[in-house]
Amino acid sequence: MIVEPGIGRVDVESGQLQGATNRYVKTFRDLAGLYRDEAAFDRLLAQRGGDTAYEVTDYKPSANAGDMIIGVTRMEAGKVGDEYFMTRGHIHARPNRPEMYYGEAGVGVMLLESPDGQIRTLEIRTRTMCYVPPFWIHRSVNVGAEPLVMTFAYPADSGQDYDIIAKAGGMRSRIVDDGQGGWKAIENDLYLSRPQSLVDSIMANRD
Ligand SMILES: [Fe+2]
Repeated sequence: MIVEPGIGRVDVESGQLQGATNRYVKTFRDLAGLYRDEAAFDRLLAQRGGDTAYEVTDYKPSANAGDMIIGVTRMEAGKVGDEYFMTRGHIHARPNRPEMYYGEAGVGVMLLESPDGQIRTLEIRTRTMCYVPPFWIHRSVNVGAEPLVMTFAYPADSGQDYDIIAKAGGMRSRIVDDGQGGWKAIENDLYLSRPQSLVDSIMANRD
C-alpha cells in the first residue's frame, strides 16, 4: 500500500508541529538523575517539578523500514546548578540509523558520544542543519536564554534506547555555563566506560 503524502507547519512560537500525529512531554520530574547538582535539581522540582522541560510533536506515517518520522522539539531555557537544560538523550534502538536536526529558534548544542566514548559537540543556531550519524548517542542541550526549537527527521524504524546513557552514569561530558555567557563541555566524573564487548555488540548492528 502506498502512503499518503503529508505536510505540517512549524509553529516556531509554540515550538510545535501543526498537524502532528503524536505529542509527548517531559516534565522536570521526568528528568531525575540527569543532572550532577542534585540539590539544585531538588530546588527546581520544588518550584517547577510538573512543568514541561521539553516537548516533541511529530508526524509518524508508519514505523516501516524506509519510512521517515518528521517533527519539532521545543526545550525550555535554564540550568540546574551550572548545567544547561537537556534532553534525556538516546542511541537509536537500531543504532545504525541517523538523524537530522535543524535550528528554528534559540541556541543549542548537540552532544554526541560514540559507543567507545568519543565526544563531539555541535552548536546549532537558527538555520543550521545538524547531522547525527549512525551509532552516535545524542542529546540536545539548550545553551541559550530562549526556548530551543528544532525540527528533526529520522528513519521510522530507528527506535530509541535511553538506558545506554543511564547504565554509563550519564554521557561522558556535561555542558555547563562557562561563566562568560557561553558554554563549555566538562568531564562527567560519574561516567563509566563501556566494556569493549558491549561496544562491539552495538557496532555489529548493521541490519
Ligand atoms: Fe534520535
